[in-house]
Amino acid sequence: MINNQSSPSILILVLLLLPITNSFLLQNNPPPTFLKNNEQSSKLQATSGAPLECRAVGIGSAAPRTVVTNVDLETVVETSDEWIRTRTGISQRRVLVHPIAPHPVHGFEEGEDWMADEKNEGLKILGIKAAKQALEMSNVDPEDIDFVICATSSQEDLFGDSTSIAAALGCKNSFAFDLTAACSGFLFGIVTAGQYLDRGGKASGVSHALVVGADALSRFVDWDDRNSCILFGDAAGAMVLSSSHDNDEDSDKYGILGYSMHSNGLGSKDLQCSMTPTVRPVKTRGDGVELSTASYDFMTMNGKEVYKFATREVPRVLNEALDAANIDVEQVDWLLLHQANIRIMEVVAQRLGIPMDKVITNLSDYGNTSAASIPLALDEAVREGKVKKGDIIACAGFGAGLSWGAAILRWG
Ligand code: COA
Repeated sequence: MINNQSSPSILILVLLLLPITNSFLLQNNPPPTFLKNNEQSSKLQATSGAPLECRAVGIGSAAPRTVVTNVDLETVVETSDEWIRTRTGISQRRVLVHPIAPHPVHGFEEGEDWMADEKNEGLKILGIKAAKQALEMSNVDPEDIDFVICATSSQEDLFGDSTSIAAALGCKNSFAFDLTAACSGFLFGIVTAGQYLDRGGKASGVSHALVVGADALSRFVDWDDRNSCILFGDAAGAMVLSSSHDNDEDSDKYGILGYSMHSNGLGSKDLQCSMTPTVRPVKTRGDGVELSTASYDFMTMNGKEVYKFATREVPRVLNEALDAANIDVEQVDWLLLHQANIRIMEVVAQRLGIPMDKVITNLSDYGNTSAASIPLALDEAVREGKVKKGDIIACAGFGAGLSWGAAILRWG
C-alpha cells in the first residue's frame, strides 16, 4: 500500500522512468499505422500461414439459363461488343431473371421437382445445384458434412442463405453460416474451412466442410451505368473439403499449402453497395420517433482505382502465399484468379512470370460472378480434365472491402 508521504517520490520516479518505458514499449509494440491511401495497404490487416492439412475432394457449379451477350447490351447502354471484349475479355454473362424463389425446403410440395422448374431459378437454387455436384464428386454423404459456409454478398435472406442451402441438401448434422467478403469470399471461405479441418480436424471435430460461393450482382448493378453493368454476371460454385486422416501419408502435401489474406476498409469507397435509408415515423408516446427502413442502393465502382489495386496487390499476395507454402512459382501448374478482367489476369501472370497457357479462365462466358468465379472456373477445368489430382493451383480473390487473398491449393 502506498502512503501519502511516499507518493511524491514515487511520482518523480515514474516520471523519470516514463521515457525509458515508452521507448521500450514502442520498440516491442509499434503503434498501429493508419494509412492515407491504398499504396501501402498490403501491410494492413493481414494474416498468412501454412499448411492447412485437408483435401479438396469435390467441386461443382451452376449458372442461370438466361444469357445476355455484349451485343444485347448495345441497346441498353452506349457501348459495343468490341469495347467490352477488348477492355475486359467478357463476351457474355448469365443472369437471374425471376423473382426470388420460395424457400427450397418448405416452399414446395413434397415430391415436387422444383429444381427443374425455370421459374424457381434463384441464387439459393444455384447454390444447391452447385453443391449437389460437388457432393457427388466427393462421395461424401450430405449427413457427414459438419459445416457449410455460403460466401455471398447478395444473399436472398438478410439473415443468410447457408442454412436453407444446408437443409435442402440434407446436411442435417452441420452448422452453417454466411460469409461476406465480396469477390474474395470463396477464397476466405476455403481458408476458414481449412482452419477447422487442419490436422485431421482434431481440434474442431470437423471432418467434412462444404464451401459455396454464390452471387447475383445483376440484382444490384445499375443497368444505366456502362462502367459497371457490362462486368457482372450471376452464378454459384461449391467445393467439398475433407480432413486428412492419420493413415493419409501425403496429408501434408495436399489441401491448402499456404495462404495470405488482407483487407483495407479505406478503399471501400472504390467499390460499394450501400444501404439507402428511408425515414419511417413511428408513433410512440409523445412526439414519436423517426426510424428508418432500408434497402440497398445500386453498386458504385471506380473502375480505374479497382484496376490499380488489383494489379498492385494480387501479385504481392500470391507471392506471400507461395512463400508461406515454400513453393517456387515454377512449381505452379495453374494460376486461377478471380475472374474480373482478362487484362488484370495478364498483368498478374506477367508479374509472376507465369505463362498465359497456365491461366485458368472462363470469364468470356460468365463475366465477373463475384464469390462464385473461382469455383465456377475450377469446376470447368477439373471436368474438362485440365486440372488433375496433385496439380498445384495458385488461387487469388480480390474485390470490394477492399479485400484480397491467395491460397496455394494442391487438388485432390
Ligand atoms: N462502353 C464504351 N465505352 C466505355 C464503357 C463501355 N461500357 N465504359 C467506359 N467507357 C468509356 C469511358 O467513358 C471513357 O471515355 P472517355 O475517354 O471519353 O472519358 C473510356 O471508355 C475509357 O474509360 P476507362 O475507364 O479509362 O476504361 P478502362 O480501360 O479503365 O476500362 C474498366 C474500364 C471498368 C473495364 C476497367 O477499369 C476495369 O476493369 N477495372 C476493374 C473493375 C473490376 O474488376 N471490378 C470488379 C472487381 S471485383
